[in-house]
Amino acid sequence: MSSKNAKKGVIKGKRERYAEKNRSRQGGRNEKKPSQIKAQHAQARRDRRERKPVERSTGENSQYIQWFPGHMTRTKRKIQADLKLVDAVAEIIDARVPMSSRNPDLPSMIGSKPRVILMNKCDLADPRATKKWTEYFRSQGVKAIELDCKTGVGINNFTSAVREVLSDKLEAWAAKGMVNRSLRVMIVGIPNVGKSTFINRISKTSKAKTEDRPGVTRGNQWFTLTSNGFSIELLDTPGVLWPRFDDQLVGEKLAFTGAVKDDVTDTEQLALRLLGYFKQTPNPVFMKRFSLCDEDMELETHELLAFIAKKRGMLISGGEPDTERAAVMVLDEFRSAKLGRITLEMPV
Ligand code: G4P
Repeated sequence: MSSKNAKKGVIKGKRERYAEKNRSRQGGRNEKKPSQIKAQHAQARRDRRERKPVERSTGENSQYIQWFPGHMTRTKRKIQADLKLVDAVAEIIDARVPMSSRNPDLPSMIGSKPRVILMNKCDLADPRATKKWTEYFRSQGVKAIELDCKTGVGINNFTSAVREVLSDKLEAWAAKGMVNRSLRVMIVGIPNVGKSTFINRISKTSKAKTEDRPGVTRGNQWFTLTSNGFSIELLDTPGVLWPRFDDQLVGEKLAFTGAVKDDVTDTEQLALRLLGYFKQTPNPVFMKRFSLCDEDMELETHELLAFIAKKRGMLISGGEPDTERAAVMVLDEFRSAKLGRITLEMPV
């Protein structure tokens, strides 16, 4: 096929897929009028114009994270539309970066809707820091629970936390004799915090049933969980919020934890910054892992990375240290907590 035809084929395929998606979204009913389609396209064009790059971090180390948000406006609109369908919002955050992994727009987006914070990946975070964060959120009047969705630790606290934040509503329902009504919760969070893992995990531990109820749910699928005799309905498609890193350190911390993918960062620069953190915040687990002494910690970060590469036998031809490979290894070991359970920020 010529490249022109191939291109044509791709475009045609896209159109067909779009039309099919649209038909299936509408259940084959209520075909859109041309004026509605025109308005939809105009909106899509406005969305594209609005889709500016997120602050690429400012300051001297700004260039190594080149990251762009996705469909911020559309996502916000979807979350706001779905809010009408739920009683509460469960915001999943990463316990290693409880502030940086939150979208600061969320409170204004959800208004007075009750919310619970799920501090996930607690298995990777410093347990003392996690306790401090739980207390901090409590002091702010926000219910937070600790979770490790990988193993399921803390998952059983979810139902009671949701009932706690919705206690007024439950009392009002009870006064009207509506005792068995289930609560509806939307899961939101930035990419990679564990939204899908949470939904998979909770659907295994609780009795879960998937339902599609057009009309009531506008095509959304819901999981009905039954736990301790109470039922909660969860939107199975979690709302993906994008983080905002106006502050360069926020972007950096999200890159350390892997929330910002490595293909948009300069891995070696990122690893050097992480080594800078370890130089500033001495950590015995890190030092033991790479058999480093106090004197080694005096090295410049690039020397330290080369030193670690040599220690691990990562060499390129000529016996030079393979710092690129060592950078990937340092980041991987940090992300899997082999360098210790580390929380990168504390409440102020
Ligand atoms: P998302 O929907 O919010 O984007 O996140 P997702 O559930 O896909 O999880 C992102 C990564 O985080 C996954 O790892 C997942 O296993 C891991 N994860 C989720 N919750 C926890 C947790 O509580 N503790 C730990 N240690 N990891 C967690 P991955 O490497 O992308 O995939 P895989 O390891 O599952 O293959």
